[in-house]
Amino acid sequence: MSQGETHDTTRRDFLYYATGGAGAVATGAAVWPLVNQMNPSADVQALSSIRVDVADVAVGSQLTVKYLGKPIFIRRRTAEEIEAARAVSAAELTIDQGSQNPNKPDTNADDQNRTLDEAGEWLVMVGVCTHLGCVPIGDGAGEFGGWFCPCHGSHYDTAGRIRKGPAPENLWIPVAEFVDATTIKLG
Ligand code: FES
Repeated sequence: MSQGETHDTTRRDFLYYATGGAGAVATGAAVWPLVNQMNPSADVQALSSIRVDVADVAVGSQLTVKYLGKPIFIRRRTAEEIEAARAVSAAELTIDQGSQNPNKPDTNADDQNRTLDEAGEWLVMVGVCTHLGCVPIGDGAGEFGGWFCPCHGSHYDTAGRIRKGPAPENLWIPVAEFVDATTIKLG
């Protein structure tokens, strides 16, 4: 569980379910041994994709789920957070100007390139500090109102972009998409 989470979110943090593995056994028996050797192990395969129910995530709150061994922050941002993130100019992003978003490769760190939806309400990020791997504190922490890593003092803004401190990159974004109005698929 990440720091900065309140206890009442604990149960909700695990309202997700695993998918994956579909089609993995559709291979002919003759080639199975070879294919089997090349496949990821069963536990990795089972977790290669998860679906997260975000129906109960209120505006201004954050859900943290564990995915492939890492915490994933799913924040439903307030209008103020979105506005603050979108008011930042490229010139102010002096540490990392990349989006760090595999869903939008080779894009810059404009807020629109980091959120899951066009309106910018949903920000999904790997909750691991890009300095040495601590889990940053959220809920408006740090000098830029986003996340703060107390290990060595890295400040991230409301788009999860590194603004001050030793971390070299913006918080990473996982492969993610909405599969319906209230479900986010990771992986
Ligand atoms: S691990 Fe986050 S600042 Fe060093």
